[in-house]
Amino acid sequence: MTSASWSNKLAHDWYPGTIPPNVCVCNTAYLGTSYSFQEYHSTVSIGLRIGRGASLDKTVLDVGPNGQVSLGEFAFVSSARIICDSEVEIGDYALIGWNVVIMDNYRVPVDVERRRHELERSSLQPERRLENECESRPVRIGRNVWIGFEACVLPGVIIGEGSIVGARSVVTENVPPFTVIAGNPARIVGVLDH
Ligand SMILES: CC(C)(COP(=O)(O)OP(=O)(O)OC[C@H]1O[C@@H](n2cnc3c(N)ncnc32)[C@H](O)[C@@H]1OP(=O)(O)O)[C@@H](O)C(=O)NCCC(=O)NCCS
Repeated sequence: MTSASWSNKLAHDWYPGTIPPNVCVCNTAYLGTSYSFQEYHSTVSIGLRIGRGASLDKTVLDVGPNGQVSLGEFAFVSSARIICDSEVEIGDYALIGWNVVIMDNYRVPVDVERRRHELERSSLQPERRLENECESRPVRIGRNVWIGFEACVLPGVIIGEGSIVGARSVVTENVPPFTVIAGNPARIVGVLDH
């Protein structure tokens, strides 16, 4: 594993941005573009770790100051949105489809008064960024998991090894290993051989 800080620009990048110093990318991994870091604000020692042979491209990393995202070996993430204020862990050989949203925090208060207050407060800021006062619950996606396109994984969810999430599903609860789940809310629709 090497840190990207030795060179904070990607040679192949179409966007003229830089890679933050607390990003650790294995030298056999692929990081598509620095555009992924437009909403990355992690200040922990390693805010993003990308393992051997893994790939992260066209993905928005919406990461708060305490957020830590990790991508296991040979994991593949393309065109997703990862919202992380505590921890999002994506296991080895996990495959995350297009427009998948993985969030460890709702970001917006359920209480209407707090929500109105937050909208008013952000209207006074140049960046219009919503401050996060909501509880974060880490999300863990196991090894060999496949998440179909446009699925959404909500805070606190743990998806067990080898499971499959159907396209456009909303995953609200933990998923046992080697199961197929689908729908909104996602329910078990099949069981896989180990
Ligand atoms: C989840 C998936 C793999 C399941 O495939 P499968 O094992 O062949 O399952 P089936 O088609 O036999 O469906 C089993 C049941 O789940 C339902 N189901 C399957 N996928 C569903 C989905 N995405 N949303 C809601 N229900 C779904 C089926 O209607 C069926 O219900 P029934 O038993 O009441 O008739 C597939 O439906 C899917 O969503 N693939 C995602 C493909 C994708 O995202 N590709 C992009 C590349 S990353």
